[in-house]
Amino acid sequence: MCSTSAPRFLMCPPDYFQIEYEINPWMNKNVQNDRTNSVLQWQNLRKILEELGCKIELVTPIKGLPDLVFTANAALVYENKAFISRFRHAARQGEEPVFAEWFKQDGWEVITLPGEMSFEGAGDALFCGNTLFAGYIFRSEVNALHWVAEQIERRVIPLQLTSEQFYHLDTCFCPLNDESAIYYPPAFDSYAQSALQAHIPHLIEVEPAEADRFACNAVVVDQHVILNTGCPILESQLKDLGYFTHATPLDEFLKSGGSAKCLTLRLNPSPAHN
Ligand code: ARG
Repeated sequence: MCSTSAPRFLMCPPDYFQIEYEINPWMNKNVQNDRTNSVLQWQNLRKILEELGCKIELVTPIKGLPDLVFTANAALVYENKAFISRFRHAARQGEEPVFAEWFKQDGWEVITLPGEMSFEGAGDALFCGNTLFAGYIFRSEVNALHWVAEQIERRVIPLQLTSEQFYHLDTCFCPLNDESAIYYPPAFDSYAQSALQAHIPHLIEVEPAEADRFACNAVVVDQHVILNTGCPILESQLKDLGYFTHATPLDEFLKSGGSAKCLTLRLNPSPAHN
């Protein structure tokens, strides 16, 4: 089913995934994930993507790097360039050389940001049309977002995030195509809300209860949207717009502050990214 133009995603099996530290409000070392269930949930997500014709590439899991599963944070990829993340928290910094090596082996131009600016890749930088929408404050620095946008000669719209629960842009914003996106307004400051409204013609607002299920952390493959269970309102809105939704349980990953989108990194351009 895969052709050379098949959507290509980077994932990392959850062999060593657990809650080893607490770097966001979802993580609590006393509330561990179930190992077996984590593997099943991850495999189901992979299966859905493969059934949609996607090609899945894998990073080899490493003991002691539990969050390596969240490959959205590996890098921001653009054409043949991979801007490798520089993690805000020391606990995740060991992932940087692992992801850099994967990209090198796969033939990418691997780029490290200058200085010490933190930047968490596609967790905080998402294309919608020609524009790079970029979240800052908790994990990525605004200077880093400007620097990356300058390198790729794209306009950047920096968006200040306001809620620790929605600490990465991909937890509260999800482009569907070049003129529509899903978002959770309370996760943005008022200027960022206005910027989103001014630049994206069709915005779908997510309800608080569904935002808490990480409704915005969805993977979009053409007309298909893959997301956590427990987001029926968003699913019906998407269906009304002609999308096919695929809800799959990802609760084990929610315990770490992640869901479908965090567990994947799109490697080739999607229609939302021109
Ligand atoms: N536990 C991880 C962290 O706090 C979750 C990362 C989720 N990734 C994402 N792209 N939102 O860094």
